[in-house]
Amino acid sequence: MALTDTSAWRALTAHRDTIQGRHLRELFADDAQRGQRFALEAVGVYFDYSKQRVTDETVRLLLALARERGLDEARQAMFAGDVINVTERRAALHVALRMPKGESIRVDGRDVVADVHGVLDRMAAFAAKVRSGKWLGHTGRPIRNIVNIGIGGSALGPVMAYRALRHYSPRELTFRFVSNMDPTDLAEAVRDLDAEETLFIVCSKTFGTLETLTNARAARAWCLARLGSERALPRHFVAVSSNAERVAQFGIDTANMFGFWDWVGGRYSMDSAIGLSTMVAIGPDGFADLLAGFHAMDTHFRDTPLERNLPALMGLLGVWNTNFLGAETVAVLPYSQYLSRFPAYLQQLTMESNGKSVVAGRAVAVNYQTGPIYWGEPGTDGQHSFYQLIHQGTHVIPCDFIGFCQALDPLGDQHDLLMSNLFAQTEALAFGKTHEQVLAEGVPEWQAPYRVFDGNRPTTTLLLERLTPHALGTLVALYEHSVYTQGVIWGIDSFDQWGVELGKALALRVAPELAGAGEPAAAHDSSTNALIRRYRQLKAGQA
Ligand code: F6P
Repeated sequence: MALTDTSAWRALTAHRDTIQGRHLRELFADDAQRGQRFALEAVGVYFDYSKQRVTDETVRLLLALARERGLDEARQAMFAGDVINVTERRAALHVALRMPKGESIRVDGRDVVADVHGVLDRMAAFAAKVRSGKWLGHTGRPIRNIVNIGIGGSALGPVMAYRALRHYSPRELTFRFVSNMDPTDLAEAVRDLDAEETLFIVCSKTFGTLETLTNARAARAWCLARLGSERALPRHFVAVSSNAERVAQFGIDTANMFGFWDWVGGRYSMDSAIGLSTMVAIGPDGFADLLAGFHAMDTHFRDTPLERNLPALMGLLGVWNTNFLGAETVAVLPYSQYLSRFPAYLQQLTMESNGKSVVAGRAVAVNYQTGPIYWGEPGTDGQHSFYQLIHQGTHVIPCDFIGFCQALDPLGDQHDLLMSNLFAQTEALAFGKTHEQVLAEGVPEWQAPYRVFDGNRPTTTLLLERLTPHALGTLVALYEHSVYTQGVIWGIDSFDQWGVELGKALALRVAPELAGAGEPAAAHDSSTNALIRRYRQLKAGQA
């Protein structure tokens, strides 16, 4: 049945009209316990959704929608290794990556958890060698610089996790991350590095991604020019991939390869061997703690009834905001400088997963909105840039505020000041400031309208004790499962990414034309032809 024909969807549509006219001021005034009643705690995450524009009835109807759309069965199917990635005909089994030793999930008769731990053990041995200075470069010097080359899921997870957990990494090791086809990325990453002490981790699930292979070739040339011998390369290059054949073709010894599997999606892979740089940074024990955090949230998602299930509720609130309150974006606002790349990481996770418009398995177009646009920056920086629009603009922008109760780098009362800003922002967004309040502050009548805050702007607050590897794992898994929850409601495949293919193919067609002269060889549209011509003309002037 089409989503919009379900009885729960219809009930929510009718219910929306009763919510439209209600203000969060009123909802809080009517229920002194609202702040507690619309909050949950699980796996170390305090999840306050009381400042979302919902009532008990909204939540009841959203849960009914989840049941009618089969979320209970869908979450069991994920953990059973069923083919939930229907358009690519495979399982999406990232939960197996963080299962403790001894548990088991079978895919085609094979215990994949045992395979996962086989790779984790090899990664741990390698990471320990690098960290202790026992992994030597070709000239006998210990490795001190680690450069991760990869893009998308093979980059965003590693760089996000490194920045998030930098507090726990040894400062004598330098970590760099190269992803962009722009040669500047590699040039700047290696500019001040000594090749004798540098190790490249080439990460690519397919080992066929143009950006990664191009950067890896350039890195190899950089190494060869400095170390003078092909024999040096095995000490300075390791690979992470699910394609051993291509790794060997590229020229990396598969003895120096860490594998993973086609049932791990790129954007769900930061806890697979793609996390090798993370493991070198925080150590095998730190990485085990990260995996334990993921696993704790997995278990919570799998076993907890929907009404107390954090990822399920988070996903459903997103559906409510997107499909019933007309929100088109979600702002992710971590009050932690360590989480500076968390919004970028979530952009791939959420938008590559749920940026779809065809119903999975039925091949018909959806007639409702699907995945919203995710964006964000750490607070308090964002407050001095785009928060103006969130407070007084014309768009509804639901926000996720993320904060920690303990500082990793305590400095006077700065952490309290940071967190007071987080709490104050959620208060301001919910309750605003009325015209009367503005006048009562002595603001002149003519200026008052500009200084009114309507409020009633929905936010969720995620409060955790401290930013540890475990906490990061729980946070990422929370978003992963909330994305899946939404995919199930919308009936789309959250695990494919066909939308990235067309641009890649066209770029390959354009590339040879940029090198030529005269008219572009292939007949593009008049805009693209003119751009190519202009590019060639101006490029010719380059010194
Ligand atoms: O651009 C799409 C994509 O396929 C992502 O899904 C993936 O994370 C990224 O490219 C990198 O792919 P690979 O790890 O195979 O190089």
